[in-house]
Amino acid sequence: MPSPTLAHPAASSHTTPAPLSPPTPLAPDIRSHWTLDPSVAFLNHGSFGACPREVLAEQQRLRDELEREPLLFLDRTRDGRLDQALTAVGAFIGATRGNLGFVTNATEGCAAVIRSIDLKPGDELLTTAHAYDAISFTLQHVADRAGAKVIRVPIDTPYVGDDRFVSLIDSAITPRTRLVVVDHITSVSALVLPVKAIVERCAARGVDVLIDGAHAPGMIDLNIEQLGAAWYTGNLHKWVCAPKGAGFLHARRDRQRNLHPAIVSNHYGQGFAAEFNWQGTRDITPWLSAPRAIEFMGQFGWDRVRQHNHQMAAWAQRLLCETWGVEPLSPLDGSSLGSMASVPLPPRVAARYADRGECVRELFERFRIEIPGMVVNGLLTLRLSCQVYNRAEEYEKLAAAVVGLGG
Ligand SMILES: Cc1ncc(COP(=O)(O)O)c(C=O)c1O
Repeated sequence: MPSPTLAHPAASSHTTPAPLSPPTPLAPDIRSHWTLDPSVAFLNHGSFGACPREVLAEQQRLRDELEREPLLFLDRTRDGRLDQALTAVGAFIGATRGNLGFVTNATEGCAAVIRSIDLKPGDELLTTAHAYDAISFTLQHVADRAGAKVIRVPIDTPYVGDDRFVSLIDSAITPRTRLVVVDHITSVSALVLPVKAIVERCAARGVDVLIDGAHAPGMIDLNIEQLGAAWYTGNLHKWVCAPKGAGFLHARRDRQRNLHPAIVSNHYGQGFAAEFNWQGTRDITPWLSAPRAIEFMGQFGWDRVRQHNHQMAAWAQRLLCETWGVEPLSPLDGSSLGSMASVPLPPRVAARYADRGECVRELFERFRIEIPGMVVNGLLTLRLSCQVYNRAEEYEKLAAAVVGLGG
């Protein structure tokens, strides 16, 4: 029986109770499709993803083909191969092939857009205080060179709700605002932000938006062209489970003309497709393997994958908040979450650590739990990820381990 499509989590009401039970696994022994170390509770899919064996095998097959006749692969048949892969990826994320180019990762996608903006002294670049560091630094770098300013809008936690957040962005826009950069799903706080409403509000103010969707493809149901942003970049190596180095950049047709890849190469000035299809010699097999990853995860049903991971995240957030006696960063029903949740450590445990790295190391070395530590508005949190290979016992182990640390 097909499961219902998961609505945009941030769009649902906050009246649904948090799930009392974790989801049932989508297939018996599903973890055996991954090469992950069985002795580790791997609760950090979010940082770099994890690629299934079958997809790695497809990448190896492509690499073997490349090495047999490098010129044929990287030169004469390259554009056709990339076209096919872009068409398959576009169908998955709601994008037309002609508006889509491959990049290595979301950092590179954001850099291409941000570095293509012609800034004047006094111009303003607007983002949020939860923006990923690499993107925030890229904004700072171009602003410093031009004498422009980066404005970072705070995101209060507990999350204040989509309407208030959109108003905060709106009120930070001035006549000098040249670009708004907003995460679809934030890294530190794992919130799914109301990007469509932000794009609409910015359009009304005459400002372009770049959406950093590093985590979105595969985590939430995505139709990029319906969002209407000038630019959208995302990763396929995180929640689509493609090999590492598979990202994309979508540019609305009217915002392609002055856009150049972060690496200017042989086809400068020859148009979006030509410039993005060749950025110097590199391994293009992560991009070419992305359709296999979409197909591999699709065998479980993409709606079921998203539903499973979302239900696990909402359940695990509740489990940890109740066990640790802490307030969640967003509603317990999971309505502002996708497949990750950032949960504050109990103050007694947080006080043990000089920095988040110490906490991450202790959890790994003593308990074999892999989970990142984040600092969200001054609070030390752990950000859990939920992918189809995760089991409820792994979050129960984390809950108990942290209780033990406070003892
Ligand atoms: C919101 C956000 N943007 C950008 C990135 C960078 O991704 P990548 O290292 O694949 O470029 C991340 C990584 O986790 C992220 O969370």
